[in-house]
Amino acid sequence: MIATPAFSGRVLVTGAHGQLGRELSATCPEGVRLCVHDIDTLDITDAEAVARAVGRFAPEVIINAAAYTAVDKAQSDAERAQAVNAEAVAHLAQAAYVEGARLVQVSTDFVFDGQQGRPYRPEDAAAPLGVYGQTKYEGECAALDILGEQALIVRTAWVYSQYGQNFVKTMLRLMSEREHLGVVADQVGTPTWARGLAQALWQAVALKLSGRHHWTDAGVASWYDFALAIRDEALARGLLERSIPVHPLRTEDYPTPARRPSYSVLDKTATWAALGVTPVHWRESLRAMLAQLA
Ligand SMILES: NC(=O)c1ccc[n+]([C@@H]2O[C@H](COP(=O)([O-])OP(=O)(O)OC[C@H]3O[C@@H](n4cnc5c(N)ncnc54)[C@H](OP(=O)(O)O)[C@@H]3O)[C@@H](O)[C@H]2O)c1
Repeated sequence: MIATPAFSGRVLVTGAHGQLGRELSATCPEGVRLCVHDIDTLDITDAEAVARAVGRFAPEVIINAAAYTAVDKAQSDAERAQAVNAEAVAHLAQAAYVEGARLVQVSTDFVFDGQQGRPYRPEDAAAPLGVYGQTKYEGECAALDILGEQALIVRTAWVYSQYGQNFVKTMLRLMSEREHLGVVADQVGTPTWARGLAQALWQAVALKLSGRHHWTDAGVASWYDFALAIRDEALARGLLERSIPVHPLRTEDYPTPARRPSYSVLDKTATWAALGVTPVHWRESLRAMLAQLA
C-alpha cells in the first residue's frame, strides 16, 4: 500500500465509470474536492462541453481516465478512437491551459511495438502496432505540446479490477463454463490492478509529477501465466469450484484484428523512485483484488 501525502484541491475526473475511474473515486484522498464525469455527463470529444465543465469547476488537476479502450474494435472504428484518445485529450489540455490546471493523461504499453529485448523506458521511441496505440500516443503528444510541464503522462498495461470487463473476469467466467481453455503464451507484459494505479496517480498528483512516466505492478507474465495464477488463486478463495486444464497458445493460433506487442514490459524504476513507493508484485495485487471479489 502506498502512503498518499497530504493533498487538497479540486480534481476533475473523466471516464469515472471505467475501471480506473471507479478506483480513483474509491481511493480519493481526504481533503480532495472531486468532480466526476463519464460520457453521460461529459463527452470529452465535445470541446465546448469540456471547456464549460472545466470552467465551471475550476479544477487544479484534471485526471483523464476516459478512453476508447476496445483495442480490436479500434481497427475498424479508427475515427472514433482518434476522436476520444487523441483529439479529446487536446480539448482537455486546452481547457486545462485556460484554467491554469494540470492534466494527468493515462496511456498504454501499446505505444510500443514489443521488439525491444528489455523493459521499455519512458524515453524510448514509440512505434505503435495498431490504431489504439497510435491514437493513445497522439493523445500523449497533444497533452505535452499544449501543457508542457503542466502535463503528466502515465503509461500503464494489462489493467484489471472488480469493475467492468477485463481479463481476470473473463477468465473466471470461461473457467466456470468450459472444460479446458487455451491462452496466448508468447505475449509478455505485466498485469496491473487498477486500485494500485489509482493510488499511484493520487501520489503523482500530490507530488506534481510531470512528463512521461510508467506504472504497472512489478514482475512479468505471459497471458498464459496470468490465466494460471487467476485459476489457482480463485480456487483457493472459492471463486471457482473446479480446476480446468489451461493450454499455452501461440499468437498465430489466436488471431485478432489488432496486432499486439509480444513484449511490452514497462521500466518503472524512475517512477517508483519519484513516487517513493515499494513495488508490489502483480500476483500479490491479484490476490488482493480476488479477495475483494470474494
Ligand atoms: N484496460 C487496460 O488493460 C489498459 C491498458 C493500458 C492502458 N489503459 C489506459 O488506462 C486508462 C483507463 O482504462 P480503463 O481500463 O479504466 O478503461 P475503461 O474501463 O474502458 O473506462 C473508460 C471509460 O471512458 C469512458 N468513455 C469512453 N468514451 C468517452 C467519451 N467520449 N467521453 C467520456 N467518457 C468516455 C467509457 O465509457 P463507456 O464504457 O460508456 O464507453 C468508460 O467509462 C485509459 O486511458 C486506457 O487507455 C488501459
